Amino acid sequence: MCGSDRRMLPCERGVRRRFITVALAFLGLCTVTAVAGIIENDVSLAASTLDGDSRHLHGEARTARTLRQADGASNCPLPKVDMSKDRYQCVVWHKACVDQNVIVSFDPDVHPTTSMGTLPTLNVTDIMYNIPSKYGIGDRYRKGSALRFPPLYVRPSNDMEEEEELRNPTFSKCTLPILLYAHYPYNAAETYRYIFEKLVTLQEAGFFNRYVTLIPGVPPGTKVPSYTKFWYNSLSDRGVVSLSELSSRRSTDTPTNVTWEGTHIRCFEQIVGCRIRYDGYGLRFYNAGQHVVRHYMPHYLAQAASFEQQLFDMRQVRIPEGTDTLRVVFISRTPHQSTVGRTILNEAEMIQKCNSAEGADLPPTEWGVPYQKYFCFAHIFGENQLMDVWLMRQVDVILGMHGAGLTNSLYMKPGGSVIELRPFGFSGRESWANRYARFKTSSLRELPWSVFWYGVDTFNASLSEPGIFEKEDKPHFSKFRTIKARDRHVHLTWAALRNQLLNIAAVARTFERYMSLRLSGAYYITDDVMQAEAPGNDPHVDKNRQRNFTSPEEERRRVLQIPVSNRNLQFAATPDRLDVRQP
Ligand SMILES: *[C@@H]1O[C@H](CO)[C@@H](O)[C@H](O)[C@H]1NC(C)=O
Ligand SMILES: *[C@@H]1O[C@H](CO)[C@@H](O)[C@H](O)[C@H]1NC(C)=O
Ligand SMILES: *[C@@H]1O[C@H](CO)[C@@H](O)[C@H](O)[C@H]1NC(C)=O
Ligand SMILES: *[C@@H]1O[C@H](CO)[C@@H](O)[C@H](O)[C@H]1NC(C)=O
Repeated sequence: MCGSDRRMLPCERGVRRRFITVALAFLGLCTVTAVAGIIENDVSLAASTLDGDSRHLHGEARTARTLRQADGASNCPLPKVDMSKDRYQCVVWHKACVDQNVIVSFDPDVHPTTSMGTLPTLNVTDIMYNIPSKYGIGDRYRKGSALRFPPLYVRPSNDMEEEEELRNPTFSKCTLPILLYAHYPYNAAETYRYIFEKLVTLQEAGFFNRYVTLIPGVPPGTKVPSYTKFWYNSLSDRGVVSLSELSSRRSTDTPTNVTWEGTHIRCFEQIVGCRIRYDGYGLRFYNAGQHVVRHYMPHYLAQAASFEQQLFDMRQVRIPEGTDTLRVVFISRTPHQSTVGRTILNEAEMIQKCNSAEGADLPPTEWGVPYQKYFCFAHIFGENQLMDVWLMRQVDVILGMHGAGLTNSLYMKPGGSVIELRPFGFSGRESWANRYARFKTSSLRELPWSVFWYGVDTFNASLSEPGIFEKEDKPHFSKFRTIKARDRHVHLTWAALRNQLLNIAAVARTFERYMSLRLSGAYYITDDVMQAEAPGNDPHVDKNRQRNFTSPEEERRRVLQIPVSNRNLQFAATPDRLDVRQP
């Protein structure tokens, strides 16, 4: 219990006597009011707090039962980690401080001056990061890709601590930091699949609650990427922060939203450290995207008018409402990104062709699908993530070159589609390309799928042009053929785009229809509308049911025999509102 701890927070000392006479239900003081009003007691949480199960960690003293605003006194919610739900051999440091990226343990049970116990360490040296560079992740440099994380330095406290705060520490019970390491923290698509999705799944399983403080593992002194902050913010009510920042030698009264105390404190009753591995756990990528959508919905709805205006000011775009238009967003690249590579060279022409499509390029009325025309427009993703989520809720299709931008597809309403383009030499036939967008939208844990993946691989060499790294070819640039090929620019053919738009219109947001195209191979084509993948090579669907397609028209005729999902169509036609539940 709180009172038995010699090292109490200053704010607790003043009111301690009063607290001891009041019921034990009122514990957990912080120096700054962190929550307003009353936080309802969580019965299961209170029970687990009292059951003495040492696998439940709380930022609070174990005897705490209820989290309430005591009259006049400050309080904090109860951060909680349930170690029985841990999948990754996470470690716990009790009574530990952070100082300039070092974890300093004061835990008497593992301290050499008081015990024979072993201080836990977290081995993160096998984790790789690509050097973050203005050209994106550093895998374009020969020695910039498989960079290893330095070990995490953990040591026992000693009698010669340089920092005043560590000489006589008080350990926070309100704030519980979790350090989270995984491969490639500088790529959004990797961050999403290696760790973010798993954190959503772990939180839903009860591993940690919203009151913990999340510390993404990044090399000391480097920033946490904006996408990581954006996603992790959906999992915690505290700010997301690097270990460098949390452990920096700043004055203890510096304000921060990272701790429940509201100030820059560096010593905690518990710190948890996890090295998250890419394994079979979770793999619920769409679920994680929808978690982000739910978290941010009040925020993006509040800004909808401003986003609409921005879209119009930047590109004269107004996304049409109603059900008769298939709305397609192209992932456009900034001029700087385009210098590096992966530009759709004829983006403007394709958008124009799409918007002026007529006759046999449009779905015929006799198909009985809602779409009578297309609306295509370009958008630069990643500049305002909240706006990106808002936008993805209003489109039927996202189209882009292979890359992290396609992760935005996971925000779509059920039945949305993604068209991935790949340059010459970077087909899923010959490289790892299918591990990303196709994998995330085709998880066996999420059948029936909610986002339908379509591919266009470029097999005609003259439709691709080299990116800057291929063109300049300096000795320190990557020699990997596929990395160079990945970054090539492409000309999209109208034949391929037209075919995929007709496919998507025929599928009409219906999983069973998409599955028919998937099994026939008609969903994944070359620039000249041939089958891109031989039957049996799609690991996400039954090998024995995979076949060659006869003609794209014939496959669409088959699809039209399958009933449509009115639920998905209706939901797509309904603007997001806080009171509208997802089907
Ligand atoms: C850390 O992990 C690496 C890779 O798994 C291993 O080779 C190394 O021996 C480990 N180091 C320690 C100190 O356990
Ligand atoms: C914490 O502060 C940062 C920057 O000041 C802000 O972006 C973030 O949204 C805040 N987080 C919370 C949970 O208040
Ligand atoms: C390859 O693309 C070029 C440029 O569009 C075109 O002229 C040529 O006919 C194409 N070749 C084949 C074999 O399709
Ligand atoms: C698909 O077509 C290829 C090439 O024509 C042929 O070799 C293969 O046997 C066919 N596979 C199936 C399952 O029909």
